Amino acid sequence: MIPQDFIDQLLSRVDIVDVVDRYVPLKKAGQNYMACCPFHKEKSPSFTVSPSKQFYHCFGCGAHGSAIGFVMEYQGLPFVDAVKMLAEGIGLPVPEERAANPEASRAAREKKLSLEDALEQAARYYKQQLKQAPVAIDYLKGRGLTGEVAARFALGYAPDNRQNLASVFPEYLSPVLAECGLVIDAEDGGRRYDRFRERVMFPIRNQRGGIIGFGGRILSKDKAPNAPKYLNSPETPLFEKGRELYGLYEARQAIRDANAVLVVEGYMDVVALAQYGVAYAVATLGTATTGEHVRKLLRHADHVYFCFDGDKAGQKAAWRALENSLPQLVDGKALHFLFLPQEHDPDSYIREFGREAFEAALKEQSVPLSAYFTQELTSRVDMSTPEGRADLVRQAKPLLEQIAAPTLGYIIKKRLAELAGMDVDEFDMLTGHSRPERKGRRDYQLPEQSNRPGSSSMVRKQIKWLLMNPAWAHDVLVSDNRPYENEMATLVAIVEAIQASDSELTTARLAEFFRHSPHELTIDSVLLDTMREPEEFSNPDQNDRENFRLGFIRLTDRYDDDLISGLSAKGYEHLSSEELQLLRTLLARKLAPSGAAPRNG
Ligand code: UTP
Ligand code: MN
Repeated sequence: MIPQDFIDQLLSRVDIVDVVDRYVPLKKAGQNYMACCPFHKEKSPSFTVSPSKQFYHCFGCGAHGSAIGFVMEYQGLPFVDAVKMLAEGIGLPVPEERAANPEASRAAREKKLSLEDALEQAARYYKQQLKQAPVAIDYLKGRGLTGEVAARFALGYAPDNRQNLASVFPEYLSPVLAECGLVIDAEDGGRRYDRFRERVMFPIRNQRGGIIGFGGRILSKDKAPNAPKYLNSPETPLFEKGRELYGLYEARQAIRDANAVLVVEGYMDVVALAQYGVAYAVATLGTATTGEHVRKLLRHADHVYFCFDGDKAGQKAAWRALENSLPQLVDGKALHFLFLPQEHDPDSYIREFGREAFEAALKEQSVPLSAYFTQELTSRVDMSTPEGRADLVRQAKPLLEQIAAPTLGYIIKKRLAELAGMDVDEFDMLTGHSRPERKGRRDYQLPEQSNRPGSSSMVRKQIKWLLMNPAWAHDVLVSDNRPYENEMATLVAIVEAIQASDSELTTARLAEFFRHSPHELTIDSVLLDTMREPEEFSNPDQNDRENFRLGFIRLTDRYDDDLISGLSAKGYEHLSSEELQLLRTLLARKLAPSGAAPRNG
């Protein structure tokens, strides 16, 4: 962990214009700088760097961030490395980690390095073992793979022996080997042993090509009928399954050429597809497709195809992927879903029918996300009855709210409204504003807010204004002890962070301040919205500032009113002493003549 104030100091010392310009030559345009976006293909520049906000953003693909974010994205570096690189660039010494123990932190850094080394060495070993293992070679040949493709994916083989890696690592007992998941320590304190034995090995690389983990496929189940077919590296400091995709590094060029990326479920699918000439495939790592996966993929290509098995599990996985994709959608990019016949996966399909048939299926039989979205939702209800159609509206609402692409979102909403027999305005009126999610913690309910259309979007708008104009936080007051949740909690947290800072904050410094915090996702998604509306990025006037202040008061007052109703409805005798105290404070504030109201109560 790098201390927060160091990050802050770093961001106030580097200039994002210099940082970006080193990689992407910038041209001045008004107050900002422009270039063609390095993160997506484009002919006219929509990539903008703002010196005053110390922030970059692309109106085309939505990429955005601070100087640190830029280096992470452009160089494919993890956060800490990006910070170090920038700090070195301006000769700022990186402080020892927050831990009071510099010894431990140095050890941690060295360990990180050797985690990578250990994995590389193991991969080399497995690869070389494959050459000497006819069983494994025959297995791969039997699955139709040539040596060329095996080499492209650096496939290997872990022989049948409990401690193969002891011959690779003289320090076989080192904690590093356990930490990178190569060995397992017996629970009863017995001897440690290799995680991967008698398996074909698939090294998993990060975007820079570094090995971060392995998948290992069992050769045959004869000896161990209960062993899992695939064994994966555990999550380690280098390997986070929800962020990584198997084959992305190997597929980069092909993805760029095709302007498309295909997401499949298995290691073997990726390798077999490449064998048959479909080199733009990647696989999730035995997990659901996450929003982070989709975000990453949309950076590489305008089209993302998901290919799922036709069975129930495939349907379920596809819907999960759709749900997780909604907040990542960008107008101008498209997601597609292909369902294979029940008995096939991409590997068996392409082997049976060949590349042309597979790509024809991809083009002709896949459905765009918009169609899948409506098909799936309408199939869940009885569209022939008003009750069914009402249920459709109810189910669609929370999903529609998550769609980040404004135009696509509108078109889908319009289509659903039509199907339900109404127009968009009626649809909006009926679905109104979403109630704040209630997470277990609070057992009294906020009153129904459907009579307050757009309240959540109003909070987001406030967050947006504040991120773009941090100084405005000084115009407002935050009351203590309110159980704010969701976006409201984020808004208040930003106000408090700005008020607590003794220097002037930029958009970039705020964004970095909230990285790794519970507010990160909300802030990022608001920033993403902002990046799609260039006018929001222009300079606001005094009137906007006043509107922000009034809006903030309105939101917090409403929140207090809702709290009062919620607590009152619960009944005094059921309130805990804190809740009672809160209710008293709220009522006192409300009943006090305005002006005399204790704002900070
Ligand atoms: P499948 O069971 O569909 O295997 O698992 P597959 O890809 O068709 O494999 P082959 O063709 O039999 O070799 C799909 C993915 O799910 C994860 C792996 O990532 C695998 O590639 N998986 C599967 C596991 O992690 N563990 C398992 O035991 C099985
Ligand atoms: Mn398979």
